[in-house]
Amino acid sequence: MSSTGKIAIIGVGNMGEAVLAGLLKAGHAPADVLAGVRRPERATALAETYGVAAVDPAEAAERAEVLVLGVKPYQVVDLLGGLPLRAGQLVVSLAAGLTTAAIEAALPAGIGVVRVMPNTPSLVGEGMSVIAGGATASAEQVTLTESLMAAVGAVATVPESQLDAAAAISGSGPAYVFYVAEALVEAGVHLGLPRAVATQLVTQTLVGSSLMLRETGEHPAVLRENVTSPGGTTAAALRVLENAGLRGTLLDATRANRDRSREIARGHM
Ligand SMILES: NC(=O)c1ccc[n+]([C@@H]2O[C@H](COP(=O)([O-])OP(=O)(O)OC[C@H]3O[C@@H](n4cnc5c(N)ncnc54)[C@H](OP(=O)(O)O)[C@@H]3O)[C@@H](O)[C@H]2O)c1
Repeated sequence: MSSTGKIAIIGVGNMGEAVLAGLLKAGHAPADVLAGVRRPERATALAETYGVAAVDPAEAAERAEVLVLGVKPYQVVDLLGGLPLRAGQLVVSLAAGLTTAAIEAALPAGIGVVRVMPNTPSLVGEGMSVIAGGATASAEQVTLTESLMAAVGAVATVPESQLDAAAAISGSGPAYVFYVAEALVEAGVHLGLPRAVATQLVTQTLVGSSLMLRETGEHPAVLRENVTSPGGTTAAALRVLENAGLRGTLLDATRANRDRSREIARGHM
């Protein structure tokens, strides 16, 4: 058994499976990772694919020290009510919008709660997980969560008050990027490129630009200036984007996202 004890992923859908696969890839032994699922056919599939024990959620909670919750936000409180929990365990919630206080209120005393806002690139090991510890979580439990989530990408820890803002940037961010990708592919087709070629050009340009940002550590404005010759073609295109107010639109879009998170948290579904 690892020093963290057994880790159970309870609710193994898209995000739960990404974490499960990432932990195994990062070197956790299959014997130290459990899947907590409610459907026998899902249990069989997970056991066959990953070689982990896939059991019902109550047994997973009984056998593990760390419980990663991958169910939908509205299912979390009901799920916790049915689990045999004990002091000393750590609950890591992946649920968007559900505060640590709301989760703590559904738990017996002595259980630490840490909230994570993941994103879908976790599915390819390039996720961004933003982490916030609740009132009952120890510093060690936050550190442990950071090391677990590092299995599916980068991690950043913030105060919980900043988590809605982080969700508006990285949690939903892939949707904005895919939206831009979709529009650029269409633009390529309008300019006469075959769709497959346009898709390849856009995909690789996004990958390459993202890697340049990460690997050079340069400010994005510097990288943009490097491809903007005075009076040139890129400058002509950027002027159109400026005139269309893209910068202000992104400010408004992320603010709308953050405000919607707050509404949902207040129960305005
Ligand atoms: N996807 C994202 O981009 C994203 C981003 C940030 C946060 N999140 C959070 O990640 C969490 C999971 O999202 P997802 O996209 O992975 O959803 P998902 O694919 O629908 O997965 C949810 C899983 O929970 C399982 N489940 C539900 N009730 C259960 C129970 N009582 N016992 C055991 N398993 C149960 C479901 O199993 P069945 O197959 O049996 O229904 C399903 O596999 C959500 O809380 C979401 O807010 C997702």
